[in-house]
Amino acid sequence: MLIAPSLLAANFARLGSEAVRIDRSGADWLHLDIMDGHFVPNISFGPAVVKTLRPVNRLTFDVHLMCSHPEILLEPFAKAGADRMTIHVELESQVTPLIWKLRSLGKQVGLAINPPTGMASVEPYLDRIDSLLVMTVNPGFGGQEFIGECLTKIDQAAAWRERLGLKYRIAVDGGIEFHTAAHCAEAGADTFISGTGLFKHKNLKAAVAKMRKAAADACH
Ligand code: DX5
Ligand code: ZN
Repeated sequence: MLIAPSLLAANFARLGSEAVRIDRSGADWLHLDIMDGHFVPNISFGPAVVKTLRPVNRLTFDVHLMCSHPEILLEPFAKAGADRMTIHVELESQVTPLIWKLRSLGKQVGLAINPPTGMASVEPYLDRIDSLLVMTVNPGFGGQEFIGECLTKIDQAAAWRERLGLKYRIAVDGGIEFHTAAHCAEAGADTFISGTGLFKHKNLKAAVAKMRKAAADACH
């Protein structure tokens, strides 16, 4: 069970100390949401910000590209310190070249799918990715409500993984709190991205531990 706090829910007035706090929280990845104001109706931050955070946080930098033209951003984020990058399957014909580019940069590859998109769209890529990110809200903003209908997609992702003998992680992102993390784990998720669900608790370290336990307990 991997826990990935999303920086989007941190206090942007003091990003450096927030990145340090996440580093010490016992979490596995730092999730970095990149929004371009086009693929999603919001703008977050870019490679320059990620670069400034790299020296103060040792976790895996998990860059989630909610962008219409990620091809112009892969190299800048690789240079800024990303360890893995997730692109969206909604980019259709761009997906294959983007995966190639990420591999050539030596980065782990994530593929994300939005709530309205059918699972058939990700099927051709399953043997080429390190993680499948099942979006459990429509991307663009933190603090939205978990969409329960997405649980069947997690089931499907886990069934395919088993049947095809693959090893991709199954990640969830959006409205992940202790109880929704448990529901996702029960369906087969193993990687939990959470913004508001973690940061609303004063003690981030305790919240990370509690979410990890909620997910692990739900699998047994
Ligand atoms: C949503 C982003 C998420 C966001 C999750 O567009 O991809 O990573 O930070 O925020 P919460 O956990 O608050 O729903
Ligand atoms: Zn995200």
